[in-house]
Amino acid sequence: MRKTILTGDRPTGPLHLGHYVGSLKSRVELQHDYATYVLIADLQALTDHAEQPALIRRNILEVALDYLAVGLDPAVATLVVQSGVPELAELTVYFLNLVSVARLGRNPTVKEEMRQKGFDADVPAGFLVYPVSQAADITAFKASVVPVGDDQLPMVEQTVEIVRRFNRLYGPVLVEPAVLLSRHARLPGTDGLGKMGKSLGNAIFLSDPTDVVARKVMGMYTDPTHVRAEQPGTVEGNPVFAYLDAFDPDAAEVARLADRYRAGGLGDVALKRRLIDVLESFLAPIRARRLALAGDPTAVVRLLKAGTERGRTVAAATLHEVRRALHLAETV
Ligand code: TRP
Repeated sequence: MRKTILTGDRPTGPLHLGHYVGSLKSRVELQHDYATYVLIADLQALTDHAEQPALIRRNILEVALDYLAVGLDPAVATLVVQSGVPELAELTVYFLNLVSVARLGRNPTVKEEMRQKGFDADVPAGFLVYPVSQAADITAFKASVVPVGDDQLPMVEQTVEIVRRFNRLYGPVLVEPAVLLSRHARLPGTDGLGKMGKSLGNAIFLSDPTDVVARKVMGMYTDPTHVRAEQPGTVEGNPVFAYLDAFDPDAAEVARLADRYRAGGLGDVALKRRLIDVLESFLAPIRARRLALAGDPTAVVRLLKAGTERGRTVAAATLHEVRRALHLAETV
């Protein structure tokens, strides 16, 4: 039997190059070898966007368009809208008994997000426990492989702990997942400050038009001490080189450019022009597919409905086993 993949994204905005490098690319490659479920995690999105349900709703379609435009094939990969599978919320409730509040507070990704969002003691309880709902997402589909960026490692670690505890207490019902990290797990933002983030103002979106991409690249952070072309520049930690590494198909040429940049004699503007061309070749076909799909949103919605129904069938089967293992009255 084929192994199962479960991954997903929060529909808080369109997806960007960081998503592509960190997870979309490997999902597209793996979809033919694994039973693949891709979750549009609108319930998780609500954990820190409770005041903006309409925004989340709108972005379900945007994220679906991004998925299809980069090459997820609905004939082999099932796109599931999280809120259409209430079994996930039910499983979350059972899992919450297997996790301590102290453990939740130690999740490094949640801690970092809380810092970024300025939550202190006012963190919504739903946000603090979203790793538990993510464990429900993964286990409801009995996924053994989770292809994500390295920021999601702590979620899968917590999932493994929950699975072990559940199976030890109630019997071997759930599958332990493992992370599949992509080679370029983390793409820096255009500001060079940290990773690319939807709401950090440092992202290049898969749906950005040509002129926007060019403007963002021209404004990118490079080596601040590299003021004139003749001066030697630093390649390490320079986001322009990080993007070339990730997207330029001519690795030998990128290595030559890096040597010239280090030695002095290659200006930032020339380097950025190359990156603009490289990104344009990568994004143009994605943009064209996205535009064509966006012309028929009802077809995309139909596809999401069908995927969500298929996903629900799988989750419902797992929940049936879970309820039985928990001796819940309904199954006696
Ligand atoms: N936490 C992921 C993100 O922020 C989204 C997500 C929800 C997810 N459920 C998942 C990822 C299950 C992998 C598996 O992008």
